[in-house]
Amino acid sequence: MRWVGFTVWFLSAVDIALICYVDAVDRMNFKSCQQSSFCRRCRGVQPGKSSYELHLNTLKVEPSSIEAEMVNTENGARFRFQLFALQDGTFRMKINEWAPLKPRYEVQYALQGEPLLNKLKVIERTAELVSVEAGANKVTVHAIPFHVDLFSGDELVISVNARGLMRFEHMRLKPEQSEGGEKTEGEDGPHHDDTVSDPGAWEENFKSHHDTKPNGPTAVALDFSFIGAHYAYGIPEHADSFALKSTKNMDPYRLYNLDVFEYELNNAMALYGSVPVLIAHGSTHTVGMFWLNAAETWVDILGTADQNVVSSIVNFVSGSATPPQVDSHFMSESGIIDTFFMLGPKPKDVFRQYTKLTGTAPLPQYFALAHHQCRWNYNDQDDVRNVDNKMDEYDIPNDVMWLDIEHTDSKKYFTWDPIKFSQATEMINNLTAKGRKLVTIVDPHIKRDSNYFLHNDAENNDYYVKTKDGKVFEGWCWPGSSSYLDLLNPEVRSYLSSQYLLQNYHGSTLDLYIWNDMNEPSVFNGPEVTMHKDCLHYGGWEHRDIHNIYGLLHTISTYEGLLQRSGGKLRPFILTRSHYAGSQRYTSVWTGDNTAEWGHLQITIPMCLSLSVAGISFCGADVGGFFKSPDAELFVRWYQAAAFQPFFRTHSHIDTKRREPWLFDEHTLSFIRDAIRKRYSFLPLWYTLFFEHEQGGAPVMRPLWAEYPSEVPTFALDDEYLLGDKLLVHPVVHPGVSDVSIYFPGPQDVWYDIDTHRKIQGGGTVKIPVTISKIPVFQKGGTIISKKERIRRSSSLTHHDPYTLFVAVDRNGSASGTLYIDDGQSFDYRKQKYLYLSLEFNGNKLSSRYLDAAWYPSRSWLERVVILGLPPGVTNAQVESKSGGRVTVETMYNSETQSLTVRKPAVSIAEEWTIVLQ
Ligand code: NOJ
Repeated sequence: MRWVGFTVWFLSAVDIALICYVDAVDRMNFKSCQQSSFCRRCRGVQPGKSSYELHLNTLKVEPSSIEAEMVNTENGARFRFQLFALQDGTFRMKINEWAPLKPRYEVQYALQGEPLLNKLKVIERTAELVSVEAGANKVTVHAIPFHVDLFSGDELVISVNARGLMRFEHMRLKPEQSEGGEKTEGEDGPHHDDTVSDPGAWEENFKSHHDTKPNGPTAVALDFSFIGAHYAYGIPEHADSFALKSTKNMDPYRLYNLDVFEYELNNAMALYGSVPVLIAHGSTHTVGMFWLNAAETWVDILGTADQNVVSSIVNFVSGSATPPQVDSHFMSESGIIDTFFMLGPKPKDVFRQYTKLTGTAPLPQYFALAHHQCRWNYNDQDDVRNVDNKMDEYDIPNDVMWLDIEHTDSKKYFTWDPIKFSQATEMINNLTAKGRKLVTIVDPHIKRDSNYFLHNDAENNDYYVKTKDGKVFEGWCWPGSSSYLDLLNPEVRSYLSSQYLLQNYHGSTLDLYIWNDMNEPSVFNGPEVTMHKDCLHYGGWEHRDIHNIYGLLHTISTYEGLLQRSGGKLRPFILTRSHYAGSQRYTSVWTGDNTAEWGHLQITIPMCLSLSVAGISFCGADVGGFFKSPDAELFVRWYQAAAFQPFFRTHSHIDTKRREPWLFDEHTLSFIRDAIRKRYSFLPLWYTLFFEHEQGGAPVMRPLWAEYPSEVPTFALDDEYLLGDKLLVHPVVHPGVSDVSIYFPGPQDVWYDIDTHRKIQGGGTVKIPVTISKIPVFQKGGTIISKKERIRRSSSLTHHDPYTLFVAVDRNGSASGTLYIDDGQSFDYRKQKYLYLSLEFNGNKLSSRYLDAAWYPSRSWLERVVILGLPPGVTNAQVESKSGGRVTVETMYNSETQSLTVRKPAVSIAEEWTIVLQ
């Protein structure tokens, strides 16, 4: 059971019931849309003529924006409508109250900066509409009823408020208690106002909790139709399919960061993070939409999924049906309407456009992409030392040991248990000696203990979140009675950052990195296990307004702290549970408390794909499952799958059996060892892909349709994905199977099994036999992949090791790829200290050329080249480089696998070189 770690003697019976062990998620602890008054009201709006109108006689045109007054004709409420043209095929639309009684919250910290504006031109203006053009795109804003059409070229791709579901609850004074609702005067007579008749509009109860709602109803909602889209994706985090389902007969997808105990699969319930970004994809066009709002949000999806999906897509592709369409309806409890439209037209354009707004993940340190070993908890420093030594004894590479909450002195973060971890620095240095790191956990709740410096500082400086009455908020979490740092306050964030400095975090060293957990925030005795919405933050904002960015703010503090700690030299590494749009600039993300079951292994793929297309590439799931204990087969399959997912960490609950690989039988141990070692051999590829992600924004782990946008069979796949454009991964995620059916995309492409080098034609599904040792991974013909095949105890020990290139030729006998190398840890790569190589194979000639002027003095050399799919006939190879001159080296041909090995070309990887087969 998860919540065993804290004392329960001070809890009420209700709370004890709440925290008791149950076997699956207790849905009763979490609201349905019906139980959330704003969701009920917004979802209750019926499609039809919208009551919102624009007064185009008030239109103001600026070089990059237009603005006009908007009115809700039902109650006379007035709004400001603004449309901005942004660079790179993107538009921003803002709607806010013209003169709100109080300012409404506008989300900070998600965008990486003020978006760059583009010039727009008014191309048509009448009393009914105004059309503007920016670049190749056009937007028509209709006045009555208000709706907006966005065109990519001449193609209508997004329609806003086309279904008339807009709702913007203006702030108002609390009316006198009146039965049956208030009548308001609208332009065409009195209307029934359900913000008054709804009993939840001014206060709301959920279970034993009361939400006072001092600002009354403040919801915002709008519908978006994606014309030509077969499916929509994104809006993580949900334990559900990658292609979003129709919510016609279920609750909408919920975005409200929550600590959900034993989450269920295949449903739209909220989880730990929220990224309100939706990608709509069709065979001719891809677009994106970003709903910048940090309050509780629900999203309805309707579309082709409501009909017979496959036949409608097939009909459309063959030209016999109306274009497909996905409709969505976003509903948030407070804030404003602030929406970005990324108009594509291709998937990679949308990824680039979105990451221009919220940023890409900075290149992680090399070690962060390697294997991480975690458990709640490693008991003491001897335990850490033993596990670390056993890794070596059993030849299992490992880069990071992790310490969960029990390493602290009574759950006081930044401290160590004085007995169990009395020699923290020595423990870290032992790891460092083998090139390894340590990660410790730092949660945002602070133990209310007058002997805790952090609590005293927070009390003395007024750093805690307040209740609605202005008292310090107290809730229960791991340490018992806790308060929560008000991370909205920049001074609090910089105070928290300073705790990471080596002089403040005693016992730590530069080789210690950070895990931020429980940052939704988790409040065991709070409504839905989180903070009361009427709690107050810096600037007077209600928790309601900023809830979904609390975790983001937590990781911003950590990032700044780690950065300052090394004088800006080393790249921080952080793992977070709670996240929001923009979190990728600071942290990696894992999918929280999963379970040792096959379904949970299966869901890791769609969950990480959803995060990836929403900008968060550095994603992983607890290997083996957090709750319960995996059997040997599940454990092996999980390692194998995770070895090909971005963040690769084993983790388990405190009550589960220990599960270090050597505790299993000899065979299981060897399969796990092989999977981890395989991961290490591919680290140069992972590192190159993350570098390229930082540059261009395309996800590292990506759906097949990102590379094959018009290939319909790729649209709803939940069991396979690509790494970059190079590897196709279809892990085995079912028990007892002897084959897997894999869809190989691209009728023009060929794929090579990375183990057998067997060649497979793309454009169809093929059954691939699998044994327990098999990880089905395939290299695309036409690509070149770099590997390091000498596996050592940790990745840093391989820094100067030689490379092996795998050249997989396409139908024309050509291939190309890239290789990125730097020091693996510092920010020097931003000062041009790296090697970025273009590798080309053409007409029997393989060459390496610098892609730019940057340079890094790598001592690595080229050990081997393996060329897949080559006809026989080559007898040797001539290698040429500046320092090595021209030499002839041996080659070896394997006619069974049609592969040629060039042995020991031995050129320096830091130099340009050419190998000619002859
Ligand atoms: C909840 C986290 O999700 C889990 O990974 C961790 O082990 C526990 N908190 C204890 O810190």
